[in-house]
Amino acid sequence: MTTAIIGLGNIGKQVALNLIAGGQQVIVADHGPTKAVDFVKGSVGNARALSVAAAIDEADIFIFAVYFDAIKGLLAEYRTQLAGKIVVDPSNPIAPDGSGGFKKLIPQDQSSGQILAALLPPGAKLVKAFGTLAAPSLGKGARRSPEPNVLFCASDDRDAGNAVADLIRASGFAPVPIGGLDQSIRIEVFGDLHEFGRLGRLVTAKEASALV
Ligand SMILES: NC(=O)c1ccc[n+]([C@@H]2O[C@H](COP(=O)([O-])OP(=O)(O)OC[C@H]3O[C@@H](n4cnc5c(N)ncnc54)[C@H](OP(=O)(O)O)[C@@H]3O)[C@@H](O)[C@H]2O)c1
Repeated sequence: MTTAIIGLGNIGKQVALNLIAGGQQVIVADHGPTKAVDFVKGSVGNARALSVAAAIDEADIFIFAVYFDAIKGLLAEYRTQLAGKIVVDPSNPIAPDGSGGFKKLIPQDQSSGQILAALLPPGAKLVKAFGTLAAPSLGKGARRSPEPNVLFCASDDRDAGNAVADLIRASGFAPVPIGGLDQSIRIEVFGDLHEFGRLGRLVTAKEASALV
């Protein structure tokens, strides 16, 4: 399966670097005209820069490393091309609250994972993953031995969940599935398994098993 990372900001760049370090061939895309090309020039490994439209035509798994509203936009714009494919959602639906903190953009009891899953085209599957850590932790926490750190994930589809678990492993973390998308809220910001929620830190698989 071919993986594309759409959006090369804080999270997208780090996810791409971690996957490349794990030997994965990835496609990278951003709406900026040069960001993806510059990223490929500067990275050692197997990455190809394409436009968003070309990446979506070619890949099977998409890590949409953009903000919640931008993911909604991508799902609408590329609805036909995304049918049957796997969408990975790392989003945390928050915005600055004007007092130095963050506020949730959707009702407290809802998750972006479930909202976005409801917007998928026929046959597409959503996996909630790669959003539980801040970008610096995703960088420094990868490939720790002997006990790898964990990335939590959630999906309603076993095959899609397994495919993304393989990507998590390749990116230098241990995948810990926490259940279906109805559990997404636990791994979004403020959730009990998020670095910016009650958990507040990187954890190893041994620690994670007591939490899930
Ligand atoms: N930052 C973190 O530590 C962190 C942690 C966990 C989860 N997340 C989640 O990860 C997602 C990305 O966050 P981020 O901090 O990486 O954001 P970011 O630094 O703003 O990066 C987003 C990138 O995507 C590009 N982009 C925006 N809309 C696009 C579109 N429609 N098509 C292609 N590229 C597009 C942006 O380009 P422009 O700048 O030119 O618009 C930018 O390069 C968010 O959902 C966030 O909640 C972030």
